[in-house]
Amino acid sequence: MSEQTMTQHNVRYLAHQGGSVRGRIRVPGDKSMSHRSIMLGALAEGVTEVDGFLEGEDSLATLKAFRAMGVQIEGPDNGHVTIHGVGMHGLKAPQGDLYLGNAGTGMRLFSGLMAGQAFDSTLTGDASLSKRPMNRVADPLRLMGARIDTADKGRPPLHIHGGQPLKGISYDMPMASAQVKSCLLLAGMYAEGETRVTEPAPTRDHTERMLNGFGYEVRREGATAIIQGGGRLTAGVIDVPADISSAAFFLVAASITPGADLVLEHVGINPTRVGIINILKAMGADLTLSNEREVGGEPVADIHVRYAPLKGIDIDDEQVPLAIDEFPVLFIAAANAEGTTRLRNAAELRVKESDRIQAMADGLAAIGVEHTVYDDGIDVVGGTYHGGRIDSHGDHRIAMAFAVAALCAEGDIDILDCANVATSFPNFKALADTVGMRLDVIEETA
Ligand code: S3P
Repeated sequence: MSEQTMTQHNVRYLAHQGGSVRGRIRVPGDKSMSHRSIMLGALAEGVTEVDGFLEGEDSLATLKAFRAMGVQIEGPDNGHVTIHGVGMHGLKAPQGDLYLGNAGTGMRLFSGLMAGQAFDSTLTGDASLSKRPMNRVADPLRLMGARIDTADKGRPPLHIHGGQPLKGISYDMPMASAQVKSCLLLAGMYAEGETRVTEPAPTRDHTERMLNGFGYEVRREGATAIIQGGGRLTAGVIDVPADISSAAFFLVAASITPGADLVLEHVGINPTRVGIINILKAMGADLTLSNEREVGGEPVADIHVRYAPLKGIDIDDEQVPLAIDEFPVLFIAAANAEGTTRLRNAAELRVKESDRIQAMADGLAAIGVEHTVYDDGIDVVGGTYHGGRIDSHGDHRIAMAFAVAALCAEGDIDILDCANVATSFPNFKALADTVGMRLDVIEETA
């Protein structure tokens, strides 16, 4: 199968009502860090060894794109990848387009890197990625001197002209986006002078941490990250922790299922990613962290979660960027809580792999969960709900959220268009089985 047809088969989930959530599991590697490990490893001098790499379609697309630019990469083999870095100026012009699959992170971070290369490149993606806004990176990159053509309304594909000298800028991001911040920091390595990126609220800082780990200094002054152009990256060893965004499905699954008792091992608990823990705790969840340690510049812990009755809350605005990918499954927690959970200031959810406010609202309606939609959020009223048919709109996190919902539904939940679960969580079904969820995966080859 070519990469473009990787998810062309139809996958449907039949999530049977009931089931248990017990045991000890380790979910796959962090998606954000997996992308970045390939990018920085490829541009470093020397050989980078990565463990815990996510073998999902998104990060594999990044890996293939670097191979297409002449980087020798061995693996992945059980999460192990060996990258023979070519140095900051060692990439070769690819033969064709760089296909980045479903990955917004891939496209936005690549755009910063490719703007600094000597050759032209074209970045493409799947149907979902092709609808996502790219002016948020193209506009500031143009301010740095990049030449970038987009399709209508700033959508992909992006054609990036090589050989353009870049200069550092001072940029105030209009939205809290780690992808935009990372894009500009990566372009900043190729720019003359200093690039300063100020964020309106803290967002995940994996790029800054990993750059520092590769010996490329990123300074921080309050809300501003600062990088000086013209430096170099030194290869190293990267241990990617389990993805808290994947762990989130099981944190909620256990929190809502009477009798549940589950340990999630070696989960990344970077302070810019722990919104799911903070929000669930505020709702009354029983979560305990143990074995806290630091691995390769990132904090990790085991998370023990037991069933506890949840209550509805007003979600703190500050938690929104720290839990940005976890809202689909948090709405399922809210549907099982006593009272109403209110989310606002989360308009970014509308430009994810799907419009996650609308897609979740449609799904909640299909199973009888009372809710009210707002431009920038939703109110979800907890209570009982029935089974039904859900369209995930090809969004991995919508699909997995409703699989979790079935644990407490009064009927089975039939979830359409689930192939993209493979972008971030290829063994979701296997781990769901391990803990006692009752999920059938029905594959129909188109
Ligand atoms: C990511 C940043 C977030 C997140 C995405 C991964 C990253 O996107 O939703 O899944 O790896 O930098 P935004 O920067 O658009 O918020």
